[in-house]
Amino acid sequence: MDPVLLHLLKHQGVFVSGMKISQEAGLSRTAVWKHVQGLRAEGYGIDCIKKKGYRLHTLPTNRWIVEKLALFSRYPLEWFYKPEVDSTNLWAKEVMVRYEKPSVFFTDKQFAGRGRLGRQWECETGKDIAFSLGIPLNTDVCHYYQYTIMMALSVYRVLLPLTNTTVQIKWPNDIYVNGKKLCGILTEMLTEENRLRSLILGVGININSTPSLPQAVSLKTLTEKEFDRHIILAEILNTFFDLVHTYGQGDFSQIYEEWRSVLMGLGQKVRIDTGQKVIEGIFLDINEQGIAIIQTDQTIEKVYSGDLFLSRS
Ligand code: BTN
Repeated sequence: MDPVLLHLLKHQGVFVSGMKISQEAGLSRTAVWKHVQGLRAEGYGIDCIKKKGYRLHTLPTNRWIVEKLALFSRYPLEWFYKPEVDSTNLWAKEVMVRYEKPSVFFTDKQFAGRGRLGRQWECETGKDIAFSLGIPLNTDVCHYYQYTIMMALSVYRVLLPLTNTTVQIKWPNDIYVNGKKLCGILTEMLTEENRLRSLILGVGININSTPSLPQAVSLKTLTEKEFDRHIILAEILNTFFDLVHTYGQGDFSQIYEEWRSVLMGLGQKVRIDTGQKVIEGIFLDINEQGIAIIQTDQTIEKVYSGDLFLSRS
């Protein structure tokens, strides 16, 4: 990010002296002035008053979202924002075919949001979070679920302190509060033969909306407060890349155990609808590949995908 813009953004709305910016950014005062001119040409509204310095008062349309996200992010990601798009997962897949950098695709409105198992995903314009993270990889496809685990755990860790209640992860990768869905994750892959080339982690979180579905909940309906979506998004990505760092050091078991400890229904009687059949039994475990292990009356079943429900008895 432009070093002068970074300082102006940190102090948005107040005057910062040219001297202070030049010292902190390591630039001459003439260079600071040139940066300000360039930023103004890009549409940034910057006041310049003698003896007071510079004040950023407006950001170019759309640009401010990306700048704000980048400001709160601790990792060097590429940020892409569109006010509306069909689906951020589709958009991410198109770009990640030819792109080599970890990138975030964020929108305020999806008109064809995709959920798991061919379902639709609805979010309220400008009120919820809908983004996809594209990660270039070169690994065996069997590792994809570990990234889904890390994303679900990141969302969990960030949302937990905001809700004041129990948050759980529901297999395969939903976030639930008091039996209602707060977040869904759709993981898709770009592969070449058996190699995972790019992973697309699409995340939808109900933040400031009032969901119409009775089985859904938002942060706002839970707490009666409004939240800053951009700060939450940046914090989820910070947490995710912290976990990826731990994973890169060969320590996945700690992540897996934390994720497993907040799983809904483990050890209980559950029903899984796979679309082809319904499996009922005790939910024994989920392995690191995301396969659910169910003890039925007859046998132990391995279930690769489906919808999980807690049985009443
Ligand atoms: C599910 O629970 O079925 C998964 C929902 C995933 C929704 C998100 S919103 C951002 C990204 N773009 C999409 O089209 N879907 C995912």
